[in-house]
Amino acid sequence: MNTVRTIEEVRRCLAEVRAAGKTVGFVPTMGALHSGHLSLIDAAARGCDFIVVSIFVNPTQFAPDEDFSEYPRPLEADLKVCEARGVGLVFHPSAGEMYGSAQLPGGAEGGLTKVSVSQLTDTLCGRSRPGHFPGVCTVVAKLFNIVQPDRAYFGRKDYQQAAVIRRMAADLKFPVEIVTCPTVRKADGLAVSTRNVHLTAEQRREAVGLYASLKLAEEMITRSCPPPGDVIEAIRTHLTEHAPLGEIDYVQIVDPQTLRDAETTSCPVLVALAVRFGQTRLIDNISLRG
Ligand code: PAJ
Repeated sequence: MNTVRTIEEVRRCLAEVRAAGKTVGFVPTMGALHSGHLSLIDAAARGCDFIVVSIFVNPTQFAPDEDFSEYPRPLEADLKVCEARGVGLVFHPSAGEMYGSAQLPGGAEGGLTKVSVSQLTDTLCGRSRPGHFPGVCTVVAKLFNIVQPDRAYFGRKDYQQAAVIRRMAADLKFPVEIVTCPTVRKADGLAVSTRNVHLTAEQRREAVGLYASLKLAEEMITRSCPPPGDVIEAIRTHLTEHAPLGEIDYVQIVDPQTLRDAETTSCPVLVALAVRFGQTRLIDNISLRG
């Protein structure tokens, strides 16, 4: 396995891979790799000849009051995991490599160009984290240009992120196939997440309520297609009772394509929620009838 820190080294390594006629699968991550990330690496290994993983805690997708500095960075362990999984190349750039360090007119640092996707980002997580998706899209666009993968793999746990990137890739004509993979969960249903480590034991017990409330919604919707408002109310009540330490950020039922609020639950819907336990913000979703 090759571990490199510069764009030039990525290009050199991948030129050889492509010259050998191999397809390239790409898994972008912020490191602290867990079973969710590994499922993407495994999917890439099934679909492509050569796997590239990027490990970069992208500063531009964190708001000033978010957990950028506390975000875990266990690089040595991550590299071991990648090696064991058959990854061919790990790209672990510095912020300077990705953004440049030049101070630009107006105080803007590291580039004047931002990639943003409208409409899909003014709802769900985009509403409570306004600068987040432009940060994600800009870094993923850079990474796609650096790696030029045949396929790139994203988790459905971050459903909106995958939808936004799919749209960005289509609109900007990136020659990449976006593959989404199912959410990996703990035995009790909690979606695996880097941020779970910040939960106290009591918050961790209550966090099971997120998936339990989504399963409750699934049961209601498959049984009798109630109006979205009734299902949202039932989820909120369930969370208030079973996860009282959690502060609800949003509970929404949306069209899985447009991410607009759904008017009925008798067609395909995405049920999505975000809950804060102290500083730790957890998200989860299920899609129904998709
Ligand atoms: P990160 O949070 O490290 O996640 C990397 C990928 O792993 C994302 O596609 C995410 O959806 C997926 N993932 C996380 N938890 C998962 C789970 N429980 N099951 C399945 N997939 C899971 O998402 C990012 O990094 C960044 O925003 C990034 C795209 C790398 C841009 O900086």
